Amino acid sequence: MEIIIQPDSRQASQIAARIVARLVREKPHAVLGMATGKTPLQLYRDLVLMHRESGLDFGGITSFNLDEYVGTPPAHPSSLHSYMWAHLFSHINMPRERINIPDGLTADIPAACRKYEQAVRSAGGIDVQILGIGTNGHIGYNEPSSSLSSRTRIKTLTEESRLDAAAAFGGEEGVPTHVITMGLGTIMESKMCLLLAFGKKKARAVALTVEGPVTAMVPGSILQMHPRAILVLDKDAASELKMADYYTWVHDHKPDWQKY
Ligand code: F6R
Repeated sequence: MEIIIQPDSRQASQIAARIVARLVREKPHAVLGMATGKTPLQLYRDLVLMHRESGLDFGGITSFNLDEYVGTPPAHPSSLHSYMWAHLFSHINMPRERINIPDGLTADIPAACRKYEQAVRSAGGIDVQILGIGTNGHIGYNEPSSSLSSRTRIKTLTEESRLDAAAAFGGEEGVPTHVITMGLGTIMESKMCLLLAFGKKKARAVALTVEGPVTAMVPGSILQMHPRAILVLDKDAASELKMADYYTWVHDHKPDWQKY
């Protein structure tokens, strides 16, 4: 795992944006895996700015989102569809037909999940999967106890995740109970995983993910088995890492060709 610790979320997001932008420039038909939530907001703002100001071209890019709430129409203001259009897709030139988000209204969830997996494979697999992390260590909505080799499927949200989403749904009662999420096995097949985490609230989940055992009880810990997992953290999210000084030293002493 590569751990990059920055003074704040702005600078951390800038690094993540440079990693994504480099891929988009070098591979115009790249496949991006998208996350929602508060964490990637600044990354998306930075990508929109790069598109507007330096012509970063998303015309050939394909995207796959991690998840969507079951029973939530795409047009619902708190759907993950709405989030993506509000914060990214409406502001860049990614063709609509290349945007893939699980369908929370599908009548046949297992069939839709199989189709989603097939679509990822047909697109050539995900080049960079953007990830946030839940306070309980979930990635995507793979809650603790998720199979480490799970595929896209329906999951039941934990109380903790529903509380985290409560504000967007006008209180916990409004939060859907189920989601469709890519599995940990699906995420692990991405060529690169780029996880962002900011704030003290994430410090424990980050420490367990990086320095704890690989366990289904901390789904993010499966990234220890990924050949190319980059974690970009602010100081607060890194505050419970025992080897933080070492990670910082490694980052500061990278040869030029390895820098972002
Ligand atoms: C959402 C997703 C989740 C979030 C996580 C953190 O698509 O994949 O794993 O990344 O719940 O959410 P925030 O960023 O709101 O703290």
